[in-house]
Amino acid sequence: MRAFTERPVAPAVVERILHAAPRDSSAGNLRSSLICFVREPHRRARLAAAAGDVPFLAGAPVDLVFLADTGRALATYGPRARARYALEDATLAAAFAVLEAVDEGLATAWVGAFEDETVRPVCETPGLDPIAIVPVGHGRERPPPTSRGPLDEVLRER
Ligand SMILES: Cc1cc2nc3c(=O)[nH]c(=O)nc-3n(C[C@H](O)[C@H](O)[C@H](O)COP(=O)(O)O)c2cc1C
Repeated sequence: MRAFTERPVAPAVVERILHAAPRDSSAGNLRSSLICFVREPHRRARLAAAAGDVPFLAGAPVDLVFLADTGRALATYGPRARARYALEDATLAAAFAVLEAVDEGLATAWVGAFEDETVRPVCETPGLDPIAIVPVGHGRERPPPTSRGPLDEVLRER
């Protein structure tokens, strides 16, 4: 969804969305992702600018930014973990939030293209890597379902 109405999202619904992200299952049990809940219009405008002036990040009543603390895994689990663990945790959290939001009858998008250095100060999270920005709100339209592509393109049976 890339067009949202100004209708706010009820706080109880936001809370359920935020609680949907798993906090128990976590790579290496490090809990190395963080969710930044952005409601203030001037911060949402800065997120929109960070993503190349996409209006729907400013237009949605809530933007969720999922961030990864990539440094955390290095000391305990080494370089392979550094590249993966926090990214996996942040991606999982974003995916669960999207599913919960849709279950609540809301619309979302997934934005992965943005300038990290513009997003970090919006969330006041120096040192963390923003992985995904997910606007959440009431969709302005109901786009038709898109094609998923054939399963065998992404499946290898051995
Ligand atoms: C990891 C990831 C990153 C994405 N980044 C962006 C983005 O930066 N901007 C955007 O408009 N859509 C983004 N999307 C949405 C995809 O473009 C979209 O899912 C794809 O084109 C298929 O369209 P559909 O989901 O409507 O079927 C992203 C999706 C994923 C899964």
